[in-house]
Amino acid sequence: TRPIVVDVDTGTDDALALLYAVGCADLDLRAVTCVAGNAGLEQVVENTLRVLEAAGAGDVPVAAGATKPLIERMRPEGQFHGADGLGGVALAPTSRRPVPESATELLHAAIVGSADPVTLVSLAPMTNVAMLLTLHPDVADHLERLVFMGGSASVGNVTAVAEFNVWQDPEAATCVVESGLPVTMYGLDVFNRLVIGRDVADRWSGSHHPAVRAAGGLLHRRGTRAAGFEQDYVGVLGDAGALLVLTHPALFTTEALPVRVNLEGLGRGQTIVDRRPQAQDAEALSRDPWPVLEVALDADLEGAAAAFVE
Ligand code: BDR
Ligand code: CA
Repeated sequence: TRPIVVDVDTGTDDALALLYAVGCADLDLRAVTCVAGNAGLEQVVENTLRVLEAAGAGDVPVAAGATKPLIERMRPEGQFHGADGLGGVALAPTSRRPVPESATELLHAAIVGSADPVTLVSLAPMTNVAMLLTLHPDVADHLERLVFMGGSASVGNVTAVAEFNVWQDPEAATCVVESGLPVTMYGLDVFNRLVIGRDVADRWSGSHHPAVRAAGGLLHRRGTRAAGFEQDYVGVLGDAGALLVLTHPALFTTEALPVRVNLEGLGRGQTIVDRRPQAQDAEALSRDPWPVLEVALDADLEGAAAAFVE
């Protein structure tokens, strides 16, 4: 099993990702850290604890992190996930509490304390992760890989070109993209197309198992809140896809491509993915070397949905 730590802004789809992380035998969830994003930090922490309770997670430590981006003020994203961040899906209260350490401290301890290299998964604005890499550069020696949900090689969602997680804290995203670590970018190119059938959500919503029932409710919320997909589908799976990239790499098409975060003007928050065939020529690289990330560009969508369901 692969040890992972996950940074979230729970969020209907962060919730689905956490349910998958706990339920999937190939993943060993060591810690979860929270950042403001889909909701304010306090709400994100409470949502995360409740989701872990519903998932029947063992003693997974949860820590609170940044309440705002590194530089800018917090900008609301239009409440796609509702005022409570979970689209009104009521999860039972829990006696779980966050640990007293900060998100950065918990991530650091979980990563350097692991006997095996850890994979760091970011499903939210990358403020906590950027602070970790800046304050604790020693994590680099203990990380297998960093996978983030964010960015796009095509359209944006918050603006024409920018995806929410990168747009909310572009400086933090820059720290991650330029970290020199092995990084996989799971952006909107696949995120927007990974959907689960309505039949599954209907079936799950009636389950006696709290995790399965929660997943059904969350999928329904994502269906009614996201526009433009067919009747038979309820919802974009979203953040959970970043974990499927780890557990089912054969289902995804990735390419090593130069990526930079646009910090300027109208394009601020865009990930510029250089898909020109010549972009990685030695000469082009020597002129202006861009960090090369593994970018998820396509997936076996049915296979990925089936893997999540299983
Ligand atoms: C990202 O923003 C949030 O709404 C989702 O949880 C996901 O992480 C998509 O742009
Ligand atoms: Ca998220």
